[in-house]
Amino acid sequence: MNPDGANTNKQDFEDFLNSTVRDLFSNQAVPFLIEPVLYSLNAPGKRLRPLLLMTFANYNDRSNTSTLFAAAAIECIHSYSLVHDDLPAMDNDDLRRGRPTCHKAYSEWAAILAGDALNTFAFELLAQANLEGNALSDAIMILSQAGGRIGMVSGQALDLENERGRGLALTNKQEMLTEIHSRKTAALISAACEIGAVIARGDRVLASEFGRKLGLLFQVTDDMLDAKGSTEAGKATGKDAAAGKLTYPAVFGMKETEMICDQLTQETLSILARTALSRSSMDYLEQLTRQLKERSR
Ligand code: IPE
Ligand code: IPE
Ligand code: MG
Ligand code: MG
Ligand code: MG
Repeated sequence: MNPDGANTNKQDFEDFLNSTVRDLFSNQAVPFLIEPVLYSLNAPGKRLRPLLLMTFANYNDRSNTSTLFAAAAIECIHSYSLVHDDLPAMDNDDLRRGRPTCHKAYSEWAAILAGDALNTFAFELLAQANLEGNALSDAIMILSQAGGRIGMVSGQALDLENERGRGLALTNKQEMLTEIHSRKTAALISAACEIGAVIARGDRVLASEFGRKLGLLFQVTDDMLDAKGSTEAGKATGKDAAAGKLTYPAVFGMKETEMICDQLTQETLSILARTALSRSSMDYLEQLTRQLKERSR
């Protein structure tokens, strides 16, 4: 990581999205598709996954477009998952990243197609990342499995199927929660770290393990945020309970959920301590991990 750390990386990433990525998407696509895609992708997200990828890739210079292409690819998959997650047939949400959701601002068909386009565009970007040797096929395999049938898409299917826990016993609820979170959220976060490690030729297994644990922690804190409510979240909160979502706060209550959170924080940090990342990258990831429990967005 460069001396200014995460802020510079975030700015480099935003600049890349607003120039190269925007131009590539706009080239030959039709205006009815370009608008909802750029509306969703350029909205102010936290950019957690690209920043993790950049950190594990040892990104420290904006001329390193290889890493920026791969980071943009993962953000496209994530943005597509949000656009579809908000649809009436799924979570039926009206607010995302501080703006009306894609289907509210445009239409349902536009949001479905914007998600479809972001999903495939991700691989168009990855193909341009100029990864050498097996790195490209490794990255394709990681991203497609984590963002698709094994990870996020299966997780979303389980999440919706298990609304209201449909008769699960408590131990099964806990197992199901871990399974849902691991697939719908942790898989892609883990993929971000692992693709970074592929680029840097670092320890893929450890990067992936760190990302998986951080991802589990991230979803528990997302559910806590929803249960506590936050005006800064930029999305509707307080809806999981009404929808009968299977979440830690719903199953265990807030106090026990906070303890689970502390446990996950410690486990994430102990994996981090085993990585061979630079001091500044370790410091950044440690701070990020510790702040999750208290986050308001
Ligand atoms: C929201 O992800 C969906 C979850 C996996 C909980 P983020 O909280 O990373 O959303 P943005 O990208 O910052 O909008
Ligand atoms: C969604 O989890 C995870 C995704 C794969 C999009 P949530 O449904 O809890 O995410 P938010 O709260 O809408 O961002
Ligand atoms: Mg959802
Ligand atoms: Mg949702
Ligand atoms: Mg949520």
